[in-house]
Amino acid sequence: MFTNRLALLFSVLIGLTLIGFYFFGPEKEVDFNTDIKPILNKHCISCHGGVKKNGGFSLLFEEEALAATESGHPAIVPGSASASELIKRLTHSDPELRMPYQRAQLSEEEIDLLKKWIDQGAKWGKHWAYEPVKAPELPSNFSTAGLGGNEAQAQAPIDFFVQEQLTAQGLSPAPKEDPMRLLRRVALDITGLPPTEALARDFSAGKITYEQAVDQLLNSEAYGEKWATWWLDLARYADTKGYERDVSRTFWPYRDWVIRSFNADKPFDQFTIEQLAGDLLPDPTQDQLTATAFHRNTMNNDEGGTEDEEFRVAAVLDRVNTTFEVWQSTTMACVQCHSHPYDPIRHEEYYQSLAFFNNTRDEDTHDEEPKLRFYEAEDQAKVEQIVNWARQNEGNVSAKQRDNFLKFYEPKYAAHLILRTEICRAPRHRL
Ligand code: HEC
Ligand code: HEC
Repeated sequence: MFTNRLALLFSVLIGLTLIGFYFFGPEKEVDFNTDIKPILNKHCISCHGGVKKNGGFSLLFEEEALAATESGHPAIVPGSASASELIKRLTHSDPELRMPYQRAQLSEEEIDLLKKWIDQGAKWGKHWAYEPVKAPELPSNFSTAGLGGNEAQAQAPIDFFVQEQLTAQGLSPAPKEDPMRLLRRVALDITGLPPTEALARDFSAGKITYEQAVDQLLNSEAYGEKWATWWLDLARYADTKGYERDVSRTFWPYRDWVIRSFNADKPFDQFTIEQLAGDLLPDPTQDQLTATAFHRNTMNNDEGGTEDEEFRVAAVLDRVNTTFEVWQSTTMACVQCHSHPYDPIRHEEYYQSLAFFNNTRDEDTHDEEPKLRFYEAEDQAKVEQIVNWARQNEGNVSAKQRDNFLKFYEPKYAAHLILRTEICRAPRHRL
């Protein structure tokens, strides 16, 4: 009798557990990046972040969030939502203490997520953009797997992922386009121009395949001209100075260098090195020096009465911001004044980066020196003759000096800032 009851009790308990498991499932792990960070960034960071740290509490970096606040205790106690001041503050009855301060209360769902997150250990996470890139897995037989009867459409690995999403959204791919229209589209895409008559003729007559047509387009000069436009936007390319009267300056040799690089299919690492530090390469070529104009594209204010050093610094800041924007897709500009409210970059790190750029001589002068000289081929040959003569008759050091003299418009080794300061000692004399 007794054992029967016990068995019954056990079966009921097991049944209830199973039902509970079925309805509620195992507790899902709360993910900091997708579940928690968006709540903190939306409702808390403006008062508890890189700028304002009310109550001595910041949610910007993990060690700050877990550190003792002005109260002397940490506001987050990993593993215990009920012991965490952060959670108490979300539903506090005193409006002066309830967070977010003087704003609408968080939703029950948001409060619940924050509680779960702390109970599960308040695990921090890196934003996905700071995790190493991983290639997504592709089924080995991707051209037929899961393509829902559209095998014929799949040509490249990316088609698999497109198809996967189309299926998920209940959509089907558009029918294959007419070949001549495809040719027109791909020509516009690659060169910015419609296909030439000859290309259209050869393609429609079946003399060349689609792939051969694409190769021809990639080989045309127009390919580099079109695709350089995006890079030139990133490089803040302009043939004018930007401020005030926006007067002109000669910059197009850099533009041509970018176009040539695209057309030569220059590897991205080399393309990067030459633009950021072409002048630091051993015996840089004229082309590698031209590439460094990337960071001479800063605006320049040569209006009367401006401070040389002010606009030199403005240019250096711009170089830090642009380098991070272009190569890291990060709005580093924010960190000039305070730690980034959204990215894990500290104020000090901004100036550590700036130190790399803070050795330039350019100022807001009319002539924008130092500049690179360009010679016609015939004059270039004479320059080489002179440098060779110097090497043979005066030695390498002298040859290098003469080479620099003929290559740069300001072959001095001291910044003109120093020279100007000396001249400026004359009272009320302004240069
Ligand atoms: C409009 C500004 C503002 C916003 C938004 C805000 N807070 Fe606060 N918070 C304050 C101020 C001011 C204090 C300091 C006074 C106090 O302790 O109440 C404070 C204090 C705190 C404290 C106490 C720190 C301690 O231990 O002394 C916690 C925890 C806190 N806030 C959490 C949050 C959370 C979580 C959010 C977002 C859901 C948030 N706050 C949003 C202004 C804000
Ligand atoms: C030129 C300096 C400077 C730059 C650049 C700058 N900030 Fe700020 N930021 C400040 C100052 C100063 C405050 C404090 C303002 C105050 O106390 O009300 C502030 C405050 C903030 C706050 C708290 C705002 C609030 O609600 O009080 C946030 C968030 C913020 N900045 C984000 C950014 C972002 C994002 C960028 C880049 C897109 C940026 N800042 C760039 C100077 C700057």
